[in-house]
Amino acid sequence: MKAEWYDSVWLNAYHAASRVVARVAPHRHEEFVRAFDVLRTPPDFTPRHERGFLTLEQLEQIRSIARAIPNDRLELHEMASFGRFVVHNLPAFTKLQHELAATASDWAGQALEPCYNFLSLYTRMGACEPHLDSPSAMWTLDICIEQSDPWPIWFSQNVPWPESAGAPDPDWATAIKNDPDLTFTPYVMEPGDAVLFSGSSQWHYREPLQAEGRKRFCNLLFLHYIPLGAGELLKPANWPHLFGIPEINEVPGLADAL
Ligand SMILES: [Fe+2]
Repeated sequence: MKAEWYDSVWLNAYHAASRVVARVAPHRHEEFVRAFDVLRTPPDFTPRHERGFLTLEQLEQIRSIARAIPNDRLELHEMASFGRFVVHNLPAFTKLQHELAATASDWAGQALEPCYNFLSLYTRMGACEPHLDSPSAMWTLDICIEQSDPWPIWFSQNVPWPESAGAPDPDWATAIKNDPDLTFTPYVMEPGDAVLFSGSSQWHYREPLQAEGRKRFCNLLFLHYIPLGAGELLKPANWPHLFGIPEINEVPGLADAL
């Protein structure tokens, strides 16, 4: 069974590659699995919520950068699923992400390096179904920039990477929220607050924004970090040569599974 949630492509590739290794090089399977321990979140990690993380001056600077983004730079591919515009890797935010790497490392308890970042401009259609992220978002520093209303994000406890989820239950999102093995805790951010969480090991979601009444929105900056030096292992396309097992190339879509 394949995992079905948003960002499950990487995990499906990992499990498929793992099955290939178990078949063609069973004596190396344990080594293959253990190699990914660097991308598994320490089980005792809990999110850190830092109130007033940004100064008002920093916040205003970020807001003015966001306001100056030309319309043709706004990405629309997540409007239907999330009700948001996104903008990836703006140079000013990439610079900030590098500046905050030491803080993120301190909070995570391990040395990190920046991966990608994006500004998320949720409209009144905003929604975020429960999901796990790819390990390219293993560590996420989520910063609240501006919002019409406080909008809780719910995190589960740290969990091991699931083998499968979702299908065939058409209401899998509700099933995850109600899973008795998961304990979800709400975090309510105000502008300037930051939360560090582990997107690849903590299920997370937001209930849909209540669209009626007045114009509702939420602007968030997501800065993603990975363990220092893990960038090559992160990319499934690298696995055949990293492990010297060309049969891993049999995994469909390996080159794009990030
Ligand atoms: Fe996520």
